Amino acid sequence: MTHISSCTASTIKDAATSLRSGNLVAFPTETVYGLGVDATNKGAVAHLYQVKGRPSDHPLIVHISSMANLDKWAREIPEYAIKLARAFWPGPMTLILPRTNLAMDFITGNQDSVGIRVPSHPLASALLTEFEEQGGLGVAAPSANRFGKVSPTTADAVVEELSGYLSPADLILDGGTCQVGVESTIIDCTQDIPEILRPGAITLDLILDQTGVLVKENNKTSMQEKVRAPGLLESHYAPNATVFLTGNPKSGDGLIALDSYLTPSGVLRLASPKNNQEYARQLYQALRLADTRGIERVFVIPPTGRDIALAINDRLKRCTQR
Ligand code: TXA
Ligand code: MG
Repeated sequence: MTHISSCTASTIKDAATSLRSGNLVAFPTETVYGLGVDATNKGAVAHLYQVKGRPSDHPLIVHISSMANLDKWAREIPEYAIKLARAFWPGPMTLILPRTNLAMDFITGNQDSVGIRVPSHPLASALLTEFEEQGGLGVAAPSANRFGKVSPTTADAVVEELSGYLSPADLILDGGTCQVGVESTIIDCTQDIPEILRPGAITLDLILDQTGVLVKENNKTSMQEKVRAPGLLESHYAPNATVFLTGNPKSGDGLIALDSYLTPSGVLRLASPKNNQEYARQLYQALRLADTRGIERVFVIPPTGRDIALAINDRLKRCTQR
């Protein structure tokens, strides 16, 4: 595995070529780092599942450079999905749509739908554009962490998660710290009315405000029947430390809370974000820091509000489940 710390046009070109030859390339997106693979290469996708330690029937998101390539992967695209794509792509949103034959079972976990995203991080964009110029059709990329663990938001976190599992030919592209910090909003677009399966930076309110499209809030029971989505399992996004959302931290415990919340004496402050956006950006790094410092109990004061706080609370709930 090679960690490329300063990416140039030529390293991006080489990375795209490497993807085309079936290797894995970890790359930054605006949400979290992804572990990319040619979405049409069955053997390479099998290697990816092995590296992640992820059960093979769980679906992957296919990343494309622009909306122009959407109908290669998806069919029967509802009008509302086009509106969503126009408003929020490139950006932190994934649409679940009926698949074409290109989206094979090894990508969709045998489902008839496929997840598609156009990321906005300039490095991700450049990599996908170059990959497509070289004849590629899409890059499948789960978050670049081991299954069930905290998603990486820096290249160093990817190294920490995966260096023991990647092959010598695999690459990690460094693009700094991810801006959003939590994974994309996933919207099921296979029904008459769209439904949020995983909350993210693109919220219900933002969607209604910018497109007039009314999206249903995540309905857990029906969702669990409909899809096998690992990020939607009860326990996920979990550090080694035990995370508490209630109770009081004692000396030696870790604390994550908004800046305005004071640190009790002896408690180790892991993050002090000034607002909910910063909270999302710092959360996963703070959970990782707890593990590197060997802290066993982390107390988190969850943010409130209908913005990205909804996504933060969703992840917090899951990382407290064991
Ligand atoms: O922000 C993100 O979405 C990041 C970056 C790298 O793009 N990717 C990401 O991928 O979070 P992953 O694999 O860690 O989580 C994707 C989620 C999983 O819960 C997966 O099951 C769900 O999307 N998913 C993918 N395809 C699906 C489908 N056809 N139906 C339902 N859920 C799907
Ligand atoms: Mg993930």
